[in-house]
Amino acid sequence: MSSETESDLGMLAPLDEMMHPYREQFDTYSQLPTDGRDRNEILHEMETLRDLEQARWKEGFASGSVYHGDDEHIAFVNRAYAIQSQANQLHTDLWPSAAKFESEIVSMTAQMLGAGQTEAPFGSEHGICGSVTSGGSESILLAIKTYRDWARDRKGITAPELVLPVSAHAAFHKAAQYFNIQPRVIGLDADYRVDVSALAAAVNPNTIALVGSAVNFPYGTIDPIDQLASIALERGIGLHVDGCLGGFFLPWAEKLGQKVPPFDFRVRGVTSMSCDTHKYGYAPKGTSVVLYRGQELRHYQYFTIADWPGGLYYSPTFSGSRPGGLSAACWAAMVSMGQSGYLAATKRILEAVSVIRRGIEGIPELHLLGQPIGPFAIASDQVDMYQVLDQMSARRWALTGLLKPAAIHVSPTLRQSQIGVAERFVRDLTDSVAYVRDTPDIEGGMAPIYGLAASIPDRAIVHGMLKQVMDIYYRL
Ligand SMILES: Cc1ncc(COP(=O)(O)O)c(C=O)c1O
Repeated sequence: MSSETESDLGMLAPLDEMMHPYREQFDTYSQLPTDGRDRNEILHEMETLRDLEQARWKEGFASGSVYHGDDEHIAFVNRAYAIQSQANQLHTDLWPSAAKFESEIVSMTAQMLGAGQTEAPFGSEHGICGSVTSGGSESILLAIKTYRDWARDRKGITAPELVLPVSAHAAFHKAAQYFNIQPRVIGLDADYRVDVSALAAAVNPNTIALVGSAVNFPYGTIDPIDQLASIALERGIGLHVDGCLGGFFLPWAEKLGQKVPPFDFRVRGVTSMSCDTHKYGYAPKGTSVVLYRGQELRHYQYFTIADWPGGLYYSPTFSGSRPGGLSAACWAAMVSMGQSGYLAATKRILEAVSVIRRGIEGIPELHLLGQPIGPFAIASDQVDMYQVLDQMSARRWALTGLLKPAAIHVSPTLRQSQIGVAERFVRDLTDSVAYVRDTPDIEGGMAPIYGLAASIPDRAIVHGMLKQVMDIYYRL
């Protein structure tokens, strides 16, 4: 146990209970056991933990999180992982299969995002190219580091700035913090898309790149990528489109007849994209793809060292050794889905979304923010959305609370396309809103924490609170 007692945690004590429910039930290892435990016993314990946790996401109560989750798909990708669990991309001499899997993952993703419809062919000097990374954040961090180094080298920019919508993912701020870049954050228009004229006005000689999302995490809306691309071309800077969430969804939604504005490499000024295989690509967690227009840009991502006593060393992404099994499982997921599989999956999700949207239209207190296609956010002028979120949690739902405005984000997945799940969501949402509307002074839950975090003027207090949350995670 940590030296901090429950009462020291104050209003964060419920988080400790949520993150550490197993203290009483299972042994806690604060140090290595003297002797190794029996393997069967260990596996049994792990299966017990899995069984305690999986019903909620399997039955479709979670936003995002597990995007496929059918038993057969899981068993298949697990087998693919197991086959390559010893592989390491760092040692291509031992595992050339890793190079096959990753180059094909990059090519398949690029082709889906318009690489075949641009001026230069895929993989040529000016064609679309990229890398497999460990997730959306790494794809974004790498792209931003790439622009910083490109701008320093090609434009002599030593005080780099990045112009991004307020709706862009937190990972862009992480990149700015890690790589000493000044973020210029731009507000949104009435449709929750970036305000293009404000964005144009923020560009200056220190700007290294622009950012747009297709779709953004909070609202699921798509920034006007074609207009951002024109600005980027005119100013001679890059445009990164974050397709981490939408990259494996929008291309298929477009083919299914949804009105998807141009967002990928078919737009000339788009110079890089991030696209997560471990979300709507249906690979297990731990892979994403970052793509660039032209190998020159990708070279600014690479790390090389020519005079290290440990030998000639290079690595394309942040990690050194990498889990070959994850790339193998990602490749297996993609080629087992195929174009028809992605199309069918997207159709099922869109059908669930339309049931949910119709349901929301029938709840007078609620409205959607902007005009999303897949992931969406629900807000209200009449009820406290954090209280609604608590009520949904009490009904087993795992959704995300948004800060500005107070709203609930939902990323619908194949789990919600199971029979009756979308209808259950609407029923529970209707009941939750009615309860909040009719019950004055509800106490407890997470709503007070969200409310406080959204409104405290001194943001340093909120930063401190968030650090405390991570400390709680590491408590025994
Ligand atoms: C639009 C968008 N970009 C980036 C990310 C970051 O992805 P990851 O959590 O895989 O690092 C997410 C995650 O939800 C996202 O929705």
